[in-house]
Amino acid sequence: MTDVSEYLRGLFGLEGRRALVTGGGRGIGRGLSLALARAGAAVVVTDVDRDGATEVARAIEDAGGRAVALEMDCMEESSVVRGVAGAASELGGLDILVNNAGVYPLHTLEDMEQELFDDVYRLNVRGTFLCTREAVKAMRESGGGGAILNLASGAGKRGLQPGLGAYGPSKAAVIQFTRNAAVEFAPDGIRVNAIAPGFVRTEGTDPLFAGGLGEQLLAHQPLKIIGTPEDLVGIAIALLSQAGSFVTGATYVIDGGFLLL
Ligand SMILES: NC(=O)c1ccc[n+]([C@@H]2O[C@H](COP(=O)([O-])OP(=O)(O)OC[C@H]3O[C@@H](n4cnc5c(N)ncnc54)[C@H](O)[C@@H]3O)[C@@H](O)[C@H]2O)c1
Repeated sequence: MTDVSEYLRGLFGLEGRRALVTGGGRGIGRGLSLALARAGAAVVVTDVDRDGATEVARAIEDAGGRAVALEMDCMEESSVVRGVAGAASELGGLDILVNNAGVYPLHTLEDMEQELFDDVYRLNVRGTFLCTREAVKAMRESGGGGAILNLASGAGKRGLQPGLGAYGPSKAAVIQFTRNAAVEFAPDGIRVNAIAPGFVRTEGTDPLFAGGLGEQLLAHQPLKIIGTPEDLVGIAIALLSQAGSFVTGATYVIDGGFLLL
């Protein structure tokens, strides 16, 4: 028998892999960037907020990992084209993409301006498409397949609450995009999966928690856990590593059972 850590490293280890994370400057993107680096990947932390990306890249390097910070706006095609190509050239190729950047403004449909609806789609859906398109080019050039992880949401599967009328449909689109991209890129050995978290405490959701979301959540969620970015890490790494080699087009709900009730 091999020892346990060697066995687990073979399944979940990301040594030698080159990863790009969008919106990696805080919240879930930050947590996933740190986790990928801990699992052995070199990580390009991208964000529209350059300072956030720089802080996360520095935290990875301080912990002994390899990381580079890059300013990249997923709403702008030219920025994505430049950013993904720059990341691949910095790392000598690309094997992993995490499409994390997203917005979730709470707004009722009746008085929603079309610009707000468009902006949500522009980042959550079109941004996911643009980053995927560019990353796949870089992965093909790297020659060894690849793995993509999209951030969907429980809101893409259920109505949940008023105010998610732009966000929910955008994440449903991410779930379907994951399936279409999985079919299209399978011949290249590129797997495309998604995770659909329930509410996770981040800088972005902090205002909602301040408004009593935590108590509401615990009343309706079987596991009674306020999720953190770290709670997403295990499944994310499984999907991006050898452990997930037979999985593509899937969306994994990670929500303490919230959608069950
Ligand atoms: N937090 C949750 O409860 C939750 C639940 C389900 C899904 N999600 C999804 O997870 C992802 C991250 O959520 P979070 O709570 O960590 O968000 P957050 O608001 O805390 O962080 C988002 C990050 O994305 C960056 N960003 C914003 N616009 C960008 C752009 N145009 N280009 C590049 N980067 C941009 C921000 O600067 C920020 O660093 C989102 O896609 C969100 O929809 C979050």
